[in-house]
Amino acid sequence: MGKGLFDPVSFGALRLSSRIVMSSMSRDRSPGGIPTALNASYYAQRATAGLVVTESTAISARGVGWPNTPGIYTQAQVAGWRLVTDAVHGAGGRIFSQLWHCGRNSHPLTQPGGVLPVGPSAVLPPGTIRTAEGRKPLMVPHELSAEEIAGIVEEYRAAARNALSAGFDGVQLHAGNGFLLDQFLRDSANRRTDAYGGSAQNRCRLLIEVAEAVCGIWGRERVGVRLSPTNPTIYHLHESEPVQQLVTAFEMLSELGIAYVDVVEGSTTTAPATHELNYPGLRRRFSGLYIANNGFTTRAQAERALAIHADLISFGRLFIANPDLPRRLKIGARMNPLNRDELYSPDHRGYTDYPFLEQKNEQNNAATQQEEHT
Ligand SMILES: Cc1cc2nc3c(=O)[nH]c(=O)nc-3n(C[C@H](O)[C@H](O)[C@H](O)COP(=O)(O)O)c2cc1C
Repeated sequence: MGKGLFDPVSFGALRLSSRIVMSSMSRDRSPGGIPTALNASYYAQRATAGLVVTESTAISARGVGWPNTPGIYTQAQVAGWRLVTDAVHGAGGRIFSQLWHCGRNSHPLTQPGGVLPVGPSAVLPPGTIRTAEGRKPLMVPHELSAEEIAGIVEEYRAAARNALSAGFDGVQLHAGNGFLLDQFLRDSANRRTDAYGGSAQNRCRLLIEVAEAVCGIWGRERVGVRLSPTNPTIYHLHESEPVQQLVTAFEMLSELGIAYVDVVEGSTTTAPATHELNYPGLRRRFSGLYIANNGFTTRAQAERALAIHADLISFGRLFIANPDLPRRLKIGARMNPLNRDELYSPDHRGYTDYPFLEQKNEQNNAATQQEEHT
């Protein structure tokens, strides 16, 4: 029997009710970096996912990429996240915090004291970034010294401890989409000649050091890693040897014994993927659970991936527009359209006001589906 999307799955002692994951998505509605009651309502609405992963959450003030994204490095932020975790748990859900350092994808207007953002190497990233004064071009980052890198590992450790205090069920390290850990992984951004650059193993070193630190707080069964090996992203990261780099990361993470990897397969932008990878083949190099992401829209499509290579599926955009996505997937109901104009509006619009299925519609839609299948 293959795995069904609605079959339970466990990370050690943590049992998830289904294989549906709400993918991490920044929504920029935490003024001053502090999660609010509105954020709690949003996540609680989506608590029927087997697992909710929060939006990118900064581990330090220098890890903040742009305004109104939440952090987890002050007591006020921990108290804000407590509102969120209590609300999700009250609704029967499970929630992991996505720990994030933006690296070079920030701007002095966002950085404390107006300093330059940091990165593995002093390489100018193409593209722009949101600031309090509108979008601005990215700048050549400050190249981190070995001592500063050690400090960043400590910031992750402290953030992981804060996530525990805030009542999360686990943490996901954001090592994808062009942010700091991804910048170290990929050779277009990492030109270092020390122990953190050069070989694929060296470029994985920071990720592994951070994962070890975080596993020390949480235990390896509560730690996952997000990767996006071929996603060009709006921050234009590239890797010349993506297969070797991904296999190295998978093998090193397997050795650590973390719970899962959450892999953005292909490209999430209109630009094509940087390379075509054989994800089902590569997946075998990671010994833990594999969450597949990107472009899943139906139960049948998700269950095909579960049959081939995945253990769970993470859904992003559909979860924004459909708070009751699991129910809709189960019965094949129509999906609410995504309102792109209000993705980052400052309030509840485009956030907590998407309609749930009415019981009546559900029955009508189920009947329609039945007809379509016969
Ligand atoms: C509005 C928005 C914000 C996102 N923010 C994050 C983020 O904070 N962290 C992350 O890992 N991915 C982020 N993503 C990527 C999604 O998690 C996901 O990989 C992507 O949307 C593809 O999945 P989908 O086709 O199911 O939407 C974001 C995507 C969207 C649409």
